Amino acid sequence: MSVLFRFENVLSENVGDKGLDYNLILKAAQENMQRCHLALLKKRQNKTLGFFDAPKNTQLCDKINTLVKKYKDKNIKNFVVIGIGGSSLGNITINDAINGKLYNEKKKNTPNIYFADNVDPEKLSDILEIINPSETLFNVITKSGSTAETMSNFMLFYNTLEKACPDKIKENIIITTDREKGNLKIIADKLGIDTFEVPDNIGGRFSVLTAVGLISAAFTGVDINALMKGAEDMEKKCSTDDIEKNPAYMAALIHYLFYIEKNVNINVLMPYSESLGSLSDWFRQLWAESLGKIDKNKKNVGITPAKSLGVIDQHSQVQLYIEGPYDKLITFIEVGKFRKNIVIPEVFSEVEGLSYLSGLSFGKLLTVEKKSTELALTEANRPNATLFVPEVNEYNLGQLFMFFEIMTAFAGELFEIDAFDQPGVESGKIATYAILGKKGFENEGVKIKKMLKNKKTREI
Ligand code: PA5
Repeated sequence: MSVLFRFENVLSENVGDKGLDYNLILKAAQENMQRCHLALLKKRQNKTLGFFDAPKNTQLCDKINTLVKKYKDKNIKNFVVIGIGGSSLGNITINDAINGKLYNEKKKNTPNIYFADNVDPEKLSDILEIINPSETLFNVITKSGSTAETMSNFMLFYNTLEKACPDKIKENIIITTDREKGNLKIIADKLGIDTFEVPDNIGGRFSVLTAVGLISAAFTGVDINALMKGAEDMEKKCSTDDIEKNPAYMAALIHYLFYIEKNVNINVLMPYSESLGSLSDWFRQLWAESLGKIDKNKKNVGITPAKSLGVIDQHSQVQLYIEGPYDKLITFIEVGKFRKNIVIPEVFSEVEGLSYLSGLSFGKLLTVEKKSTELALTEANRPNATLFVPEVNEYNLGQLFMFFEIMTAFAGELFEIDAFDQPGVESGKIATYAILGKKGFENEGVKIKKMLKNKKTREI
């Protein structure tokens, strides 16, 4: 069964004039479809947009699965992912969704996993305290091969490994980077370590279904072939230019229309599933970095993605969603069947006010709470949609990744912006290089120093 996008609660027939008229959606589709669909097709055909076809790379899965087998008897107890942004958020999402957030505490035959993403010395020290380098595989991932955070973290773990067991340098490091360029590629060549490639035509935040996301997944027991199959099937489903059959295009168009017609500029993703909580972090980067741009009329555009988790945020955010400004479109993720379920025991039968809970399963409780929040929002004329996921598994997670990637790419075409660059992120990277005195960034360094010198501080 496929992941479904349910959107009746964004329509005016359910939320009054705060919603969209269905005919308006169809009209907008008619006006924009050819331009946007063809633009994506063209980018795909001239091979500048690789993410659509990434799931077809079964050879890569074979190569990774073979690598995992090779390490089976090598007593690998830990797996450390060194990367940031698009080079780690997908890995975290897969691990949390498939293995569970408490994976490291579980009994298993696969290694524990740690994510060295931030350059926070406390977190890094903790990882160093936990792992024994000789029993640890380090997967350093950076498409550019030069990101300061990733390279700093790699330098730290490399040094630790070199000191503890220099003979294991080649064996305990897996490198994922560009085929030809970047500092990491230079290091890989120098050390004689084979590299896994981040394809040229797949940007960081769209790269989860390449070696970037798949290696750590396979080492922790995730069925990467099923993940790819789910993505491939969703890609097929979303290849039509018929808006009424294409969930990713429909979702993008709805968000675009709410933005231009109703000033709705916040996109809340609210999974009712702990294991899908990190998917919101992955999606936040995808949506924000792709769509927060300056359009062709020099207008600043963008819809702010916000993260929410059911039911926890019912006790934190939902008040704002129901009575705050009409600036949000909420998308729930509802899970059809939980992989594990537990029943609330029939205790405290003497307390009448608790009897409605006795004998109820937690899965049912979570689903009822989602449906109740949906009802309350709809009654308050707050537009909301639902992504229905039959069960959290590899196949369906693959579908979700591809759904969101196509949705984001299509939204980029609707806004007439380049969804695949990130000049804002690059400028932050350049400022870091300049402040830290990286060779080649001297002019920016002088500019920044002058700027900081002239700046008046105000603090209390
Ligand atoms: O989507 C992107 O391109 C970025 O967010 C990158 O993923 C992030 O900056 C990390 O870059 P790199 O993989 O080059 O280290």
